[in-house]
Amino acid sequence: MPVDILVGTQWGDEGKGKLIDVLTRDVDMVVRFQGGNNAGHTVEIGDKHYVLHLVPSGIFRENVVNVIGNGLVVDVLGLVEEMKGIAAAGFSVDNVMLSSRAQLIFEYHKRADALREASAGSRKIGTTRRGIGPAYADKMNRTGIRGIDLTCPERLEEQFRREAEKYNKLFSEYGIAQLDIDAEWERVREAAEYLRGHVCDTVYAVNAAIKAGKKILCEGAQAALLDIDHGTYPFVTSSNTVSGGACTGAGIAPQKIRDVWGVIKAYTTRVGEGPFPTELFDECGEKLRQIGHEFGATTGRPRRCGWFDAVAGRYACMVDGVNKLAVTKLDVLDDLDRIGICVAYEINGRTTSEFPASIEELAAAKPVLEWLPGWKQDTSRATRWEDLPENAQNYLKRIAGLVDSTIAIVSVGPRRDQTFLV
Ligand code: IMP
Repeated sequence: MPVDILVGTQWGDEGKGKLIDVLTRDVDMVVRFQGGNNAGHTVEIGDKHYVLHLVPSGIFRENVVNVIGNGLVVDVLGLVEEMKGIAAAGFSVDNVMLSSRAQLIFEYHKRADALREASAGSRKIGTTRRGIGPAYADKMNRTGIRGIDLTCPERLEEQFRREAEKYNKLFSEYGIAQLDIDAEWERVREAAEYLRGHVCDTVYAVNAAIKAGKKILCEGAQAALLDIDHGTYPFVTSSNTVSGGACTGAGIAPQKIRDVWGVIKAYTTRVGEGPFPTELFDECGEKLRQIGHEFGATTGRPRRCGWFDAVAGRYACMVDGVNKLAVTKLDVLDDLDRIGICVAYEINGRTTSEFPASIEELAAAKPVLEWLPGWKQDTSRATRWEDLPENAQNYLKRIAGLVDSTIAIVSVGPRRDQTFLV
């Protein structure tokens, strides 16, 4: 059985957690392949609301294996806290596998992240301060500590102390608080003990599952415009968030991939710094934020809101190879008289429909807007395409045409039952 991938196609927060939860209905394995606990996937089951940061979204379904793949950077203490929280809510965490090849995040990475942000001035990224960048930098510098090291306490201690001392030298140069290495090691030691039984070679586990004909869903975090190569560099995260990242980040060969689900919000949001051509600074932007509850699941920060950006969306869907589009939060637009879609950018007097590599050009881009009439009707109870008002159907068709993909799912609210296949 082939593998499907689900990715975000904007700046994150498209509602991937909910979609994954819906798509995992008949899945055997869910695999995360990049990022870390900078992600916050919200899943609503009945009237309960869960936020996942590292554990894959299949955790709420019995018999689904949840893999934290080799492409992640894993906050050791954060993962233990999250797993304990899930267990306390009555769900089993026995089915969580942690890759022996995944990189680990420790307290010193978080402090280094905060330090970098505090000293970056106008080049501040607005990171989640979860240590993501420093941990990926250590991976590339080949000084990182990996999942496999959790299985050998002596080696883990030696590596942890060596790295913590190195970071403490940096902290003292900048005059910020040093890490109490002994106290921190105690916490790490306990966490490692908890996680040890979950560490395994997930690359073999995933490939064995593929061979056995199991159904596998790879779950992306963040989204294409935050990709380290394809996003709005340097205002991006430090991993490959596009669908290709699933091959390297989970150890899956490209010919095993079947569908790429691209989750796209019916408008656009962004958290953190960086250019955002369709951002709205007026009451309409505030309306989208309030109605769409656009506040970060990880940091609680208010999200910046704007019209649907089809230039960025088309670039993302091209790189991701999205053949199934899942449009979320359509209901948030229910009350608007007219709705803008950005179909091109005007950059220094030139009109283009290509997403620029230059951050200066993107910052200068003025959106060329096309206006579509609103539908002024409640869509939150729609359970099939035919239930949608004609103007809502037209809006969705226009989005799909502009990003050159096909609508497969529409979501009209946060609950599992507010989602339908098209
Ligand atoms: P980092 O991933 O914490 O290094 O943050 C880099 C950029 O990615 C910042 O602009 C963050 O706001 C953004 N970011 C990271 N994770 C997410 C996410 O899950 N949703 C939306 N934005 C994110």
